[in-house]
Amino acid sequence: MAGFIPENILDDILARVDIVEVISGYIPLKRAGRNFKACCPFHQERTASFIVSPGRQIYHCFGCGESGNAFKFLMRYERMDFPEAVETLARKAGVTLPQNESINNKAQGLITQLYKINELAAEFYCANLNSQEASKAKDYLLKRGVSPETIKTLKIGFAYDKWDTLINHLRGKGFNLGILEKAGLIVSREAGGYYDRFRNRITFPIFDIKGRVLGFGARVLDDSLPKYINSPETLIYTKGRNLYGLNLAKEGIRGNDFAAVVEGYMDFIIPYQEGVKNIVASQGTALTIEQIRLLKRYTNNVVMIYDADSAGELATLRSLDIFVEEEVTVRVVSLSKGFDPDLFVRKNGIGVFSKEVNAAAGLFDYKLAVLRSRYDTKEITNKAKVSSLMLETINKFKNAILKTEYLKKLASELGIKEEALLEEAKKKKANKFYDTPQPNFKNSPLSVSPTEKLLMSLMLEENSLIGRVRETIDLRDFKDERISRIVSLMFSLAAEGKEAKPQILMNHLGDDISHLVCEPDSLPEGLSLKHKERMVDDCLKRIKGGGEKLKREELHKEIKIAQDSGDEERLNRLIKEFHCLIKTSYNKKKNDI
Ligand code: CTP
Ligand code: MN
Repeated sequence: MAGFIPENILDDILARVDIVEVISGYIPLKRAGRNFKACCPFHQERTASFIVSPGRQIYHCFGCGESGNAFKFLMRYERMDFPEAVETLARKAGVTLPQNESINNKAQGLITQLYKINELAAEFYCANLNSQEASKAKDYLLKRGVSPETIKTLKIGFAYDKWDTLINHLRGKGFNLGILEKAGLIVSREAGGYYDRFRNRITFPIFDIKGRVLGFGARVLDDSLPKYINSPETLIYTKGRNLYGLNLAKEGIRGNDFAAVVEGYMDFIIPYQEGVKNIVASQGTALTIEQIRLLKRYTNNVVMIYDADSAGELATLRSLDIFVEEEVTVRVVSLSKGFDPDLFVRKNGIGVFSKEVNAAAGLFDYKLAVLRSRYDTKEITNKAKVSSLMLETINKFKNAILKTEYLKKLASELGIKEEALLEEAKKKKANKFYDTPQPNFKNSPLSVSPTEKLLMSLMLEENSLIGRVRETIDLRDFKDERISRIVSLMFSLAAEGKEAKPQILMNHLGDDISHLVCEPDSLPEGLSLKHKERMVDDCLKRIKGGGEKLKREELHKEIKIAQDSGDEERLNRLIKEFHCLIKTSYNKKKNDI
């Protein structure tokens, strides 16, 4: 990643790229006198009021006022951050950027090598697929309807039924065994030596949005198990942080303003090949928050496509709630029994598939329908049960209008009084506060709490302290979401016995937060481990105490509302809770002394 970049280099880059060329790579431009014109990509319009000036090297929209240079365009259109935009254009211009000093060069070198190794491995597997030995793999793919063109686009390949062909190939290219193991492509034997991880399998490279190969998924050619083997977590690949196919589908997603999300590699491949260009695969798991945020770069609308088995599961339904929290509109298609998207398209054609996707039900309707098919809501107790499950979702809406409209709708669907539902909604919310406190995340740079930052610095400097923090803290105790994410990452690295050093963390973190781990910390030099432990304990106490204070304040507010509305029963309950909270925190303090 590019670090601080001197002005003269930025100027140099801008002098060497042509904004007209940059923008016309994304939208068609028409010449109009000295300038170029287009319909503005940043707002809806029929007549072109978006002007690109080759003379001044800027763009400007007379409709919405958006304007800027080539960097700004990439930032707005590709949702890149500044360093990403600079890097992209520097590459285009052939300008070499100075390396960020705070990044350990060795680690950067390692990462670059891992990408290179994966790239070479992908090429190797691709070439294998054309050999005589791979004819059964090729036949298998063709039989499943994967076209030669798709094989090429997705760089699908084959790993031979041998223990060391990849090892030999990559060693021949000058890579040592240690680094091939770090790339996750070879596995060490207990007795010494190494063997190829993927054997006798069809290989699917997993790309990032820039099209770099992060790792591989590899499928058997028959029904044996495990069906897929995937790359292990490496410095460049973390499960649940990427979406299969997004590198190809991002434009389609932006264009259609929604993403179709399926589970499997094949469920991406067949519909994509047949013309659905706004599709990605989660690779088996429920969508993670990172994957949702990745999609949010391109759209705020998602259609989840499930096979019938998983779709009705309560766990699946619940996992959809995180879309609501992320303010992404989610709709759901549940395919009929025995079908997954791949099979559905091959059986019924892409037209029927697209129709199903376009007609997908909204989360509210879908969830209610599933629950009703399960509970007979003519029964009073079932009515309460279904309301309660629906309220879990409705309560997650941040928008008050949406929330009240859905409450209204639910009341009428179930034939219950809106006031009763409203009361339950409030109750649920109050209870929830104590089950899973919702932190009040603040993200402005000014609001990084010095205590949270100090704790993070201590952990970074002394990885052995991570365990101590993990025992005490709940990630939700952090006020700052970025710190919480960084600490969570440190926990998982430590759990895997890996180093949690800044240069490693950086590669897993978005650019929006990676700077936090690079900033020099203000720890005095030469502190003893004992001293650091005491500092950690101190931070922990303050952070946990802060969480309780927040709860107390929140509860105070609730009590006031209950008082004002004269809701005696609720008031009594809240007061009891308040006392409880004060008592536990008092006991904790007593024990600390
Ligand atoms: N998966 C995995 N490891 C497994 C099984 C599944 O990583 N042992 C992931 C893969 O990304 C797979 C997805 O989960 O694509 C969905 O699994 P499944 O529906 O079983 O596979 P399909 O993609 O439908 O594969 P196929 O149609 O070839 O059976
Ligand atoms: Mn399948």
